[in-house]
Amino acid sequence: MNVRQEFQSRFGCAPAHVIWTPGRVNLIGEHTDYNDGFVLPAAIDRGVYLAVAPRADREVRVYALNFDAQKTFSLDAITHAATQLWSNYLQGVAMMLQEHGYTLRGMDAVLWGNLPVGASLSSSAAVQVATAYAFKTLGAFDLPLEQIPALCQRAENVFVGVQSGIMDQFVVTLGERDHALFLDCRSLVYHRVPIPPHLCLVVCDTRKPRALAASAYNQRRAECEQGARFFGVAALRDVTMGMFRARENELPNVIRKRVRHVVTENQRVLDTVTALERADLKTMGALMAASHASLRDDYEVSVRELDVMVELAQAQTGCFGARMTGAGFGGAALALVEQNAVADFVKNVSAGYKKQMAREPALLVTRAEDGVRALNANEA
Ligand code: GLA
Repeated sequence: MNVRQEFQSRFGCAPAHVIWTPGRVNLIGEHTDYNDGFVLPAAIDRGVYLAVAPRADREVRVYALNFDAQKTFSLDAITHAATQLWSNYLQGVAMMLQEHGYTLRGMDAVLWGNLPVGASLSSSAAVQVATAYAFKTLGAFDLPLEQIPALCQRAENVFVGVQSGIMDQFVVTLGERDHALFLDCRSLVYHRVPIPPHLCLVVCDTRKPRALAASAYNQRRAECEQGARFFGVAALRDVTMGMFRARENELPNVIRKRVRHVVTENQRVLDTVTALERADLKTMGALMAASHASLRDDYEVSVRELDVMVELAQAQTGCFGARMTGAGFGGAALALVEQNAVADFVKNVSAGYKKQMAREPALLVTRAEDGVRALNANEA
């Protein structure tokens, strides 16, 4: 797909800029971000393209190629769309930028993405960050990259209505090629951790549509808040293993399981960073396996399709670790696979999954990529 040409044929002029924003995978640290905890995601080489040109008025006209749909809205009258839900990600960001005092220019835009939608690869965060970057570029205002994630997260919480954390927006903004990004979701202090060059990130999409994901997600978040109140702390990040052990029997069963996941997962992130920095892939794989088990048994966000995919992946030669990635309830697993073994991995896991689940999976071999940027004329 050539978004520049698409823009030209739709709007009769060349776009002023094409903004590219990646999707993401999460190596480890699931459902920890909204508990002020730790995460270790990576931006990937699939994402969204937003071709834009300024308009003289305050209208925004966006054509979404993947949906063959156009939405027009005025920057002076932003209202939640009941159909064309994709447009709320753009509208919410426009609203938040204006609430923060930025003066936006109207624009024409063409949006296209090569991320599978509903595969837990954060296509929505990519659209949000691309939108913020496009308005910043067209309006030539000073919006530091570090401020984009929180603004987009707020748009998702307030305007879209999902109480998501900051991980996705953060990594698609600040990720770096061949690196994972370790983030402390409370202080927003981060550092990049190199991914060994012989490892491929393989996204194993179950193609199982996510069901009730938003409401189940918000419910998990509420359960975590209940746990934090019980321990008298601001967020579950503050609960140590010792604190948990001392009082776990007083907790209702469901809350005990949710808290145990978050407390142990935070530790697993720290341990994974150490393991990766020492290139100790065996330990990293064991931590990923423990993370998946915890998400399945304690946090209860996995589904049978993800469990089957992870078991198949873990059984392959050259696979150093596998787990579900993202919110869960369907979507994709992530496997870290030796480059030389990746062709067989894809063949065997695809065949095994199809046989067991009677559904064709989609396996994508990706690598860690840089976060949001404007592309050069010869790139898109
Ligand atoms: C979604 C949310 C993130 C994070 C993950 C689970 O991707 O957008 O903020 O909570 O789920 O780790």
